[in-house]
Amino acid sequence: MRMRAVVLALFVLGIASASLAQGYDALVREAETKLMAQKWDEALALYEQAFKSGEFSYNDFYNAACAGARLGKPDLAYSYLLKAIDAGFLERDQLNQDPDLETLRSGARWQAVTAALQLKLEAIEKTFPESRPAGPVIELPAPRFDGTVSVEAALKNRRSIRSYAAAPLTLAEVSQLLWAAYGITQTRENAPAFIRGGLRTAPSAGARYPLDLYLAAFNVTGLPPGIYWYDSEKHQLMRTVEGDRRKEVSEAAFNQGMFETASAAIIYSAVYERSMVKYGQRGRDRYVCMDLGHSAENVYLQAYALKIGTVAVGAFTDLWLKKACGMTRPEEPLYIMPLGKVE
Ligand SMILES: Cc1cc2nc3c(=O)[nH]c(=O)nc-3n(C[C@H](O)[C@H](O)[C@H](O)COP(=O)(O)O)c2cc1C
Repeated sequence: MRMRAVVLALFVLGIASASLAQGYDALVREAETKLMAQKWDEALALYEQAFKSGEFSYNDFYNAACAGARLGKPDLAYSYLLKAIDAGFLERDQLNQDPDLETLRSGARWQAVTAALQLKLEAIEKTFPESRPAGPVIELPAPRFDGTVSVEAALKNRRSIRSYAAAPLTLAEVSQLLWAAYGITQTRENAPAFIRGGLRTAPSAGARYPLDLYLAAFNVTGLPPGIYWYDSEKHQLMRTVEGDRRKEVSEAAFNQGMFETASAAIIYSAVYERSMVKYGQRGRDRYVCMDLGHSAENVYLQAYALKIGTVAVGAFTDLWLKKACGMTRPEEPLYIMPLGKVE
């Protein structure tokens, strides 16, 4: 399973012709097409030609390793795998399960590859803080509780949208979307601490609210570019990472096209322990992702009502996204929902 190629195959309905692009990108796109067609020798030749430019990416090194393995060139394949890991490839499951790499999975050289990945993963894990450091706070405008689009119209017309107009989003719009996702709608006297402020727009098993939401602001009027954690209880943003992080978020998500034009993105993580403390393994296996689905659908529907496009993105490298957002150690990233005005 070659990740970037698979992402393209599964999710993107309209793929730009490779011949329209130039240089490195054109070569690797063509190489991906050859991989999909299992033309391993042609794919490998295209990757090798692309790398001669001095450009590379961990996915492209990984894909070249797959082609090399399929062609019975283990030396080349191991060497590309090590290069991929050095450049940032972090997908352990993929490494261990990808059928393309079947012939490589024994002996000392394979062990060297898995050890290199393990070292890299441990080094990155160590960089995440245990708790969220305080950052500058931005008050969000109060959400509106009425609108002109019916629930039925939103349900009927909602679609995943992957390309957006250049116009910025406003602070009021991102405020509305965050509130729809996870805003507090009912406070409770003497509520237990785990409720963290009150019941919300989205249901949650046992009201454990395992999700955390971030707003990646790329082009939002009145909000400097950066990554912000959404504090539902106070309906505020707190900055976790300064500056425009479009490149980092996009790279974490295998450079899927929607990040080129998005003005912002809501990024979800979960602290599984919040659900597991009550529900154990059932909390991990089922409830956290059910909670996520409820909240993300709210975003789809609210976005439609605001003439904003979005798409649920589940394909990304967890640790790179976690790092890009300034997440804490216990959080696991789950979804990215890019946002932008409908064209
Ligand atoms: C769990 C999940 C993961 C998804 N991941 C991606 C993704 O990584 N990239 C993408 O372009 N679309 C992604 N999608 C969107 C689906 O492709 C989309 O929902 C589907 O094609 C149906 O289209 P619709 O949402 O317009 O009804 C994902 C959807 C779900 C539910």
